[in-house]
Amino acid sequence: MNKINRREALAVFAATGVAAISPVSSIAQATQTAVAPAFSGKHQPTPLPFDPTKLSGISERLIRSHHENNYTGAVRALNVVENRLAAMMNDKDLPAYIYGDLKRQELVRTGSVVLHERYFANLGGNGKADGTALNIIKQNWGSYEAWEAEFKRVGNSLAGGSGWTIFGYNFHTKQYHTYWAADHSTSAAFSIPLLVLDMYEHAYQIDHGAAAAKYVDAFMTNVNWEEVNRRVESLGQAKLV
Ligand SMILES: [Fe+2]
Repeated sequence: MNKINRREALAVFAATGVAAISPVSSIAQATQTAVAPAFSGKHQPTPLPFDPTKLSGISERLIRSHHENNYTGAVRALNVVENRLAAMMNDKDLPAYIYGDLKRQELVRTGSVVLHERYFANLGGNGKADGTALNIIKQNWGSYEAWEAEFKRVGNSLAGGSGWTIFGYNFHTKQYHTYWAADHSTSAAFSIPLLVLDMYEHAYQIDHGAAAAKYVDAFMTNVNWEEVNRRVESLGQAKLV
């Protein structure tokens, strides 16, 4: 773990506003206390991995707004939350419920960062399933058409609100599933996302208004199946444990 000096500690407090609610003794304590890597607060946004002018049915304006405002905002928020946790973790007088509010924010912001990065990375393709992922889908749903119908049905069930549709592999049940998630923090336990569809209104409202189904159709034509295949193949022997 890294030691921080008084100047660095004050910089953290200035960035997070903690100084306004922390006693002087806490500042002195922080200058002498190591900062745990778990709360480093140094996450960096991942650039868009595709040309945003080339998607079909999803505009550059929408994608850039989504990436710069919602996703990048989540990265910044996660850093702020981690910095505040770092400053508070040694404050023995802080009520657990106050600390718990920050831990809830940590969970929500982490889910948003991870799922958005998976979402953008699985866009930018031609939408034509092939390879390992297509074989997995046929083995577990009977046909690509049956899998796609269920995936889109789950997406459409989230229209008008918020949430995620996640085709994933569950390391506990050892099954592939398409999961429904109400928000950033409700992913199925012990599952890894293989294809992620953002169903928050900010993902489609600019282009499609309230017509979420049109966005779901457009999303399918832009899926980067090379990336989905890479994710499926990266499961490797881990799924056999
Ligand atoms: Fe989003």
